[in-house]
Amino acid sequence: MNRSITDSTNFYQSHNPVDLVATYGSPLYVYNENIFRTKCQEMINLTSYPNFKVNYAIKANTNLTLLRIAKEEGLCADVSSPGEIVAALTAGFAPKDLFFIANNISAEEMTFAINKGILLSLDSVSQLETYGRLNPGGEIALRFNGGIGGGHHENVITGGDETKFGIRATYIPHVKAVLAKYNLRLIGINHHFGSQNPVELYLDGVEELLTIARHFEGLEFIDFGGGFSIPYHKQQGEVPMDLAVLGHALTRYMEAYAKEQNNNLVFMIEPGRYICAESGVLLGTVHSVKENGDTKFAGTDLGFSVFARTTLYESHHDIEVYGSTSENNQSHIHIVGNQCESGDYIAKSRQLPHLREGNILGILDAGAYGYSMSSQYNLRPRPAEVLIKSDGDLKLIRRRDTYEDMLANML
Ligand code: LLP
Repeated sequence: MNRSITDSTNFYQSHNPVDLVATYGSPLYVYNENIFRTKCQEMINLTSYPNFKVNYAIKANTNLTLLRIAKEEGLCADVSSPGEIVAALTAGFAPKDLFFIANNISAEEMTFAINKGILLSLDSVSQLETYGRLNPGGEIALRFNGGIGGGHHENVITGGDETKFGIRATYIPHVKAVLAKYNLRLIGINHHFGSQNPVELYLDGVEELLTIARHFEGLEFIDFGGGFSIPYHKQQGEVPMDLAVLGHALTRYMEAYAKEQNNNLVFMIEPGRYICAESGVLLGTVHSVKENGDTKFAGTDLGFSVFARTTLYESHHDIEVYGSTSENNQSHIHIVGNQCESGDYIAKSRQLPHLREGNILGILDAGAYGYSMSSQYNLRPRPAEVLIKSDGDLKLIRRRDTYEDMLANML
């Protein structure tokens, strides 16, 4: 078995991926509670600034069991839709621990959050007008777009003129006019300029947001967003970002700003991927091995309805092979899924041991934006999710869709 990364993290503990698939079926998302809790603690302890809050961006993985664990670890939550609000409340988060970072929401969705007592962040003057009409005299936060953007793929860059997100600083006078018109109190500002970014760029963003903050009196919090990177190329020796460098720099910025403003305001971050990516592995099964001309394909049950990141962003995920293989005999092969589109692949030209039908593949670092972006395309049931608990026991935390589930909403 080729398991060096999961062996080094003791991912499966006393379990075996081949047995997990035999028990729970394929494909299967597997999570490790110890790793998930460790990541939560790494973020909680990132800085020594006393008023520091970590909002888990739950869009990365909304499984209720994982949300409950994140809450136990002391995280609050960044939610992006009424559905995520319902999930977070169901997991036990209090409304005051939720921050609804909204994008182009309807008046009904705004009212939904207002009625539940959840603070919203809006990202246009137009949405602020709507809010003012619905909740005059209310408290509100605003998402700014200072111009910096970055990310692992252009579809995840959320700063700069080319993206729909945030309010550009030139609109600050308009913002102030609408705040005054409806007697609204701006209690916080936030930004999020992209995903999987280097520490230096994140810190450039921090400076940029603090420059915007100086335009507003009486802010109670500033939220620097998520976007921290994780090493997706561990098999090539990629190392994690330096938490100490990030933490010290953040602490310095926060302390200096609090001193300058003479206000012990709260600072927040919103990690999604960092919390859950490395605590999840997606297991799938090889069902066919073939060659079209000189191109080798391993056909699996890991279509893009199960895992979309590789098709959507050409993302790299390390792959481990479980089951009997000839380790010494490697070849380049495309790993593809079972969906009726040729963009349906997990990896291109990956050097792996010779694969055969029945091999189990482990797609590493699949815990973030894996299940949460899955679908029922081609009416493929979404997979089950299982948790390897800290005490070593297994817990099914979501069952696989049934055919009846998939037809249930059709009238
Ligand atoms: N805060 C806000 C307002 C966000 O929109 C996001 C992610 C985050 C925080 C968390 O970002 P993270 O720490 O996970 O990078 N599906 C893509 C990522 C899209 C992220 C969308 N927003 C992927 O699979 O890479």
